[in-house]
Amino acid sequence: MSDVLAQPLTLPCGATLPNRLAKAAMTEGLATSRGVPTPELERLYGLWSDGGAGVLLSGNIQVDADHLERPGNVVIDREPDAAMRQALASWAEAATRNGNHFWGQINHAGRQTQKNVNLHPKAPSAVKVGLPGGQFGEPVALTVAEIEDIVRRFGVCAAALQQAGFTGVQVHAAHGYLLSQFLSPRSNHRTDQYGGELGNRARALLESVTAVRSAVGPDFPVSVKLNSADFQKGGFAFEDSLQVAQWLQGAGVDLIEISGGTYEQPKLLGVEGIEEEEKQHVAHSTLMREAYFVDFALAMQEKVSIPLMVTGGFRHREVMEQAITSGGADLIGLGRPMCVLTDAPNKLLQGLQELPRYETQLSMFPPWLSFLNAIKALRTMATFGVQYWFYAQIDRLGKQGQADPSMSVFAATRLVMSLQKQLLSDKKP
Ligand SMILES: Cc1cc2nc3c(=O)[nH]c(=O)nc-3n(C[C@H](O)[C@H](O)[C@H](O)COP(=O)(O)O)c2cc1C
Repeated sequence: MSDVLAQPLTLPCGATLPNRLAKAAMTEGLATSRGVPTPELERLYGLWSDGGAGVLLSGNIQVDADHLERPGNVVIDREPDAAMRQALASWAEAATRNGNHFWGQINHAGRQTQKNVNLHPKAPSAVKVGLPGGQFGEPVALTVAEIEDIVRRFGVCAAALQQAGFTGVQVHAAHGYLLSQFLSPRSNHRTDQYGGELGNRARALLESVTAVRSAVGPDFPVSVKLNSADFQKGGFAFEDSLQVAQWLQGAGVDLIEISGGTYEQPKLLGVEGIEEEEKQHVAHSTLMREAYFVDFALAMQEKVSIPLMVTGGFRHREVMEQAITSGGADLIGLGRPMCVLTDAPNKLLQGLQELPRYETQLSMFPPWLSFLNAIKALRTMATFGVQYWFYAQIDRLGKQGQADPSMSVFAATRLVMSLQKQLLSDKKP
């Protein structure tokens, strides 16, 4: 067995990660209705810290309470008060108890804010998410002053995380959330300095990164999660991503995590979207059969010298090792396997060959109704249902200390819906 995955990784800021395995960001929904971290979050991250990953990425932490990706998100929209400082510090302490890194992922959901959180979320332009089901409201275009305020909040949030004992931060610019909406010509129709050519569409991201870097100083890890592409016609393409990666390197970013897709085109989960996928110009290797974005990272390594983390689809240890030895990835992100197998990194480091692929065994519909998956709108619904199964596992880990992989997708959907309803009603004044 090779020890490629056990090698430490030193980042440009000087910090060293103990190994090449990362727990990717996964929304937890375990904060209070006001966005304060809870003992359940501490239990969850304690388990993950014990699991052996070199770095744990938190689920997305919001900079605006009116723009949650989901009720139960942690929210840091101002300098924290004493109670919030204490809650963040306890969370960070549990999440680093094995000497691993713990980075907070900072986000603003923009138009991908659920309607039950905000009927009219702010976004680069008034362009609604193109999904059936009416889950998202009609967005309103941000003013320049509002964009400047969001940029400032990214800095405030990063400083709060650093003071609480987090060991790094990640700016979320992927998956169709606000900064990713700015990057895409499909969701950004602005004609001011934040829209139009790529340099303008990347401005909100680059300003946010600059605000974060100046808040945390030069020695603290700052990473960005970036789409290799949105995989949509007329959207953010791989050529754009290559350029933005170079600008991010120039802005002092320590590591870029490569992912891809949006709610409209959930390529990040390896799932087909409602519209046809826009193929990107990249050389294909056999690695890509399993790891969705590794070939994009291989091509990106030729343009930037900072480390790249690649997330999406990795299940075989051999593929992870090859991704690193081929020079494509410096760090491997693991998502869904960690929702049940919290010690997947330790198991891989001890020689486990392959992680379970829960997603291929799960379905919203029983086998006799599986023909319904052929209907696009139902397929989208089923994708959300399977996602809720992973949410439910995370909820169980936080509340009971163990997952329940025997739960059906239907039961998980009901559980997540009722938890969400409870959080929304708790929030009402
Ligand atoms: C339950 C769940 C929650 C997620 N939440 C986030 C999130 O908060 N931020 C983020 O950047 N990606 C999020 N993702 C995407 C993962 O970070 C990762 O990119 C994706 O699961 C693909 O990796 P995998 O094939 O190893 O699961 C989430 C994925 C899942 C399954």
